[in-house]
Amino acid sequence: GPPFPVFTRQEVARHHSEGDRVWVTYGSDVFDVTDFLELHPGGKSKILLAAGGALEPFWALYAMHKQEHVLELLQGYKVGELSPEEPPLPTPGDPYGGDPPRHPGLKVNTLKPFNAEPPSELLAENFLTPNPLFFKRNHLPVPTVDPATYRLYVQGIRGRALSLSLQDLKSKFPKHKVTATVQCAGNRRAEMNALRNTNRLGWNIGAISTACWSGVRLRDVLVHAGYKQGDDGHVSFEGLDKDQNGTVYGASIPFEKAMDPKGDVLLAYEMNGEELPRDHGFPLRVVVPGIVGARNVKWLARISVGPEESQSHWQQKDYKGFSPAVTWDNVDFSKAPAIQEMPVQSAITEPSPNALVPPGELTVKGYAWSGGGRGVIRVDVSLDGGKSWHEAKLTGEAQSPGRAWAWKLWQLKACVPPGTKELNIVCKAVDTSYNEQPDSVGPIWNILGVLNNAWHRVHVSVGE
Ligand code: HEM
Ligand code: MTE
Repeated sequence: GPPFPVFTRQEVARHHSEGDRVWVTYGSDVFDVTDFLELHPGGKSKILLAAGGALEPFWALYAMHKQEHVLELLQGYKVGELSPEEPPLPTPGDPYGGDPPRHPGLKVNTLKPFNAEPPSELLAENFLTPNPLFFKRNHLPVPTVDPATYRLYVQGIRGRALSLSLQDLKSKFPKHKVTATVQCAGNRRAEMNALRNTNRLGWNIGAISTACWSGVRLRDVLVHAGYKQGDDGHVSFEGLDKDQNGTVYGASIPFEKAMDPKGDVLLAYEMNGEELPRDHGFPLRVVVPGIVGARNVKWLARISVGPEESQSHWQQKDYKGFSPAVTWDNVDFSKAPAIQEMPVQSAITEPSPNALVPPGELTVKGYAWSGGGRGVIRVDVSLDGGKSWHEAKLTGEAQSPGRAWAWKLWQLKACVPPGTKELNIVCKAVDTSYNEQPDSVGPIWNILGVLNNAWHRVHVSVGE
């Protein structure tokens, strides 16, 4: 095609609002991203921060943009090139320089922020996921916290406030242990992306893990701050992780869940008997059993109670479910409730997709879980794409009815007759309310790519 027109940084800078079109630069290219504003997974306001200027300083913080699919998407909006006389940009310091080291076995989705899952075939090896392999879902850099000066701020009743040190938390409140599975709403998004790309993190089946958490009950801290059961509203949490504008991660849960003595909501300082690792919220995180991962706020700084849900981006404009009919042109975020309890879920961890399995005895393994404390009562497995079914054997810790916060692992030993060429392995779980999983992704696909709990399917070939 014809060469692109050449612009100076000053010319680009004039395009800094929707009225003047929104231009940005990346390297020496100029883009008009006005038509992308509403489609941006990170929100329109974030792009407006870079309007008229360079993306580099922002993408140093949100380096998940430096992926091929994002750069390709950006290329579609190219309108010009910077004039060659422009001085190069100073390289900003890396906001992720302070992130902790990680286990090399993790399957990395994005490095900055760090988003990674355990290899699928390891997921169901242990009922409790070892801390280094537990999936990690960060929206921002991991904050560095000095445990000696750390304080948890709790807004109390009638304008009072509590400021609690780690020592206060450990000495003033009884220590509780809860074994709970944490699952991200985006778990298994890759299967949704394969159908129709959502342009968001392509999690495989590993954005789910289980730990034994210990800490204090949120309920006990709220009672100490003057609240009582029967009050209502929402409990909002804020993290210590923030972007360059000081925006912190935040989320909320219903007050009723927070105060329910059988809700088991924890402020955890230990994970599987070890000090809470930095990636998982050191020194303190919220664990909300039965509820979507997004509300389990890490690096907890502040708790407040009020009539409104958290106003954060992640409560209002993300982690909500929509009809497949909803598009970025007609989405109304105020119409859908924030995800709290999750639907019944299961996946096959072994064999791996496209593996070659020998005829004879075959072991199929996986996990199954449901939200809201609903236990998994059954897992059905098919080897022929859903025509005939077998019941898998379930294992896991016994948990009280209505408080089945942890997953079940399952196994099926089957015999593959000689002459079989391929298997279409499928699994689906059933929870205590007899909820079952939908058979395919199409009818539950949504623009945010959340809540994928379709039957999990693994195709393998049979041979020596
Ligand atoms: C996420 C594109 C500018 C902040 C994303 C994603 C895409 C994208 C495709 C999803 C990535 C994934 O989940 O794999 C773009 C394009 C931009 C742009 C084409 C060019 C104008 C910005 C700027 C900022 C920003 C300037 C910040 C100031 C974010 C954030 C997310 C995100 C915070 C993650 C949302 C979440 O937490 O899931 N962007 N982006 N983006 N972007 Fe951008
Ligand atoms: N808390 C803070 N402060 N910042 C975050 O980015 N991510 C949330 C939640 N809590 C997040 C957070 C999301 S989306 C999930 S799924 C879980 O943490 C993941 O917890 P994990 O990294 O311990 O697995």
